[in-house]
Amino acid sequence: MCGIVAYVGPKEAYPIIIEGLKRLEYRGYDSAGVSIINGGMHTFKCKGKVLDLEKIIEQDKVHGTLGMGHTRWATHGAPNDINAHPHLSGDSNLAIIHNGIIENYSTLRTALEKLGHTFVSETDTEVLIHLIEEIRNTEDLPLEEATRRALTKVVGAYAIVVLDKNDPNKIVGAKNSSPLVFGLGEKEFFLASDASPIVKFTDKVIYLEDEEIITIHRDGDYEIRTIENEVADPEIKQIDLNIEELEKGGYEHFMLKEIYQQPLTIAESMRGRLSADEGWAKLGGMEQHLNRFKQAKRIVLTACGTSWHAAMIAEYLFEDLARIPTEVEYASEFRYRNPIISPDDVIIALSQSGETADTLAAINLAKSKGAFIYGIVNNVGSTIARTTDSGSYIHCGPEIGVASTKAFTSQLTVLTLMAIILGYEKGKISEGYYRQLLSELESVPSLVAKILTKADQIKYIASEIRNTSNALYLGRGYNFPVALEGALKLKEISYIHAEGYPAAEMKHGPIALIDMYMPVVVIATNKSAHEKIVSNIQEVKARKGIVVAVVTEGDHIIKGMADFTIEIPYIEEPLSPLLSVVPLQLLSYYIAVMRGCHVDQPRNLAKSVTVE
Ligand code: M6R
Repeated sequence: MCGIVAYVGPKEAYPIIIEGLKRLEYRGYDSAGVSIINGGMHTFKCKGKVLDLEKIIEQDKVHGTLGMGHTRWATHGAPNDINAHPHLSGDSNLAIIHNGIIENYSTLRTALEKLGHTFVSETDTEVLIHLIEEIRNTEDLPLEEATRRALTKVVGAYAIVVLDKNDPNKIVGAKNSSPLVFGLGEKEFFLASDASPIVKFTDKVIYLEDEEIITIHRDGDYEIRTIENEVADPEIKQIDLNIEELEKGGYEHFMLKEIYQQPLTIAESMRGRLSADEGWAKLGGMEQHLNRFKQAKRIVLTACGTSWHAAMIAEYLFEDLARIPTEVEYASEFRYRNPIISPDDVIIALSQSGETADTLAAINLAKSKGAFIYGIVNNVGSTIARTTDSGSYIHCGPEIGVASTKAFTSQLTVLTLMAIILGYEKGKISEGYYRQLLSELESVPSLVAKILTKADQIKYIASEIRNTSNALYLGRGYNFPVALEGALKLKEISYIHAEGYPAAEMKHGPIALIDMYMPVVVIATNKSAHEKIVSNIQEVKARKGIVVAVVTEGDHIIKGMADFTIEIPYIEEPLSPLLSVVPLQLLSYYIAVMRGCHVDQPRNLAKSVTVE
């Protein structure tokens, strides 16, 4: 969602804040703004990206060593200059930046209007700064206490930073549901939505907990209190992140870098977790709770977006290899549909960011019903990682492109490992098959590297179909969720309408869409359903559809039927999504680039969806 960064220290704040905003822009890029305190509150903000903001800055007004910046993903109010953050109090003494949603803002706004406050924007955030102002002025309170009291009246999610132009040595921050990290450098201090703007300056951080308020003084004194006004005792953590991981490293886009990183990131997801030669596999977080998993009556996986597609593949894996009844739930539905959950259930929550609001709410709901929650998360120290009972990090490094790629294959790597371990431990797969699966899993990084050498061929196919307005993606079994993922990738970065379907379902409706202009991408690698997929392709060809088939190397039958084929190496079917998704990622990427789309920051999207 929105990105937040604030700085106080001996250096010029503005360049640090702008650089930080560029790192946080993956969270939202509808508008951007900064406030710098220097003999007054100097605020600049505008619709658009951080680059647009830089163009309107008056350089002589942004000198100063304390300030804050914001990059917005719009919730309340259109993305325009007025709704951009920071927002000011009525007397213009206070400024606020905010990530989240104040749910009762309308009631608060009406009450404040009755007290004489007037508002210039349509945002919930402006209401909050007026509320802080009202409490502060009426009761003559320090900023942090006025903020605390204001937050006791607020319902919703927030990470905020508040500044007072008359107190140029203090930053106040607070969080509930939305993330906020405090960075402790050498005589300089930071608040940010995540560690990416901080990592260049320090590796010491404190992750604020929900309903905590921090006051940071220029001299390095800081205090964290709860909303009940109790002093908190936070733990300083060391972050393990280096600046190169946050750069494009010579690639044109983060998405392309992340696609190409996959041989490495998949290997990282397995590192220290298996040895096919020695015949063992383990996941630390799972080992401690192995009996819970083995005795689980049911596994329920919950997630959103691409993580939900990984969860769908896990349903096939857990049922096929471990014979455990498994269900997959959109977190946004699960949280509101009064699901039946028992303490015998194991809930697995998947999230790259570890901050997705719906997934977090689903976890909290399942927790309240006594279920055991296992997290599969990328972002170390994130809220979901801290909320679950146990879990496994996927260790693929920061994913910055809004379209998820390497996180998906790393989630699959961990899920596949879990299913293999459970299948073996429960005696559902033989020792021989167990070793074979482990050995094939170990070979995935080199097979993905081989697929990546086909980039030029995939680029050519992209050039042939790039002008389409619609596309269908078909797959069966393990590769049906891959079809969904391929379609999502195309939609989100190229704005082409695409739908994924189980190949056999096509004849129950979508076949009506097929004509000579319709590209149909078929994931046709399944050995078990090869003949059936051949029939599905024939059905498309009979209606003159354009078939792009992802096939196993040496599959001359489908090669002879399809308009375009992309060959990928053979692998056992449960592992095949790890390979078959890679050409689909590249296909979407090239189509989007050829259509002139902003691949890393597609319109209307944000990397981490911390609101409902
Ligand atoms: O961080 P999460 O994995 O919880 O995010 C879930 C979705 O928001 C995310 O996968 C989204 O669908 C991506 N844009 C897909 O590329």
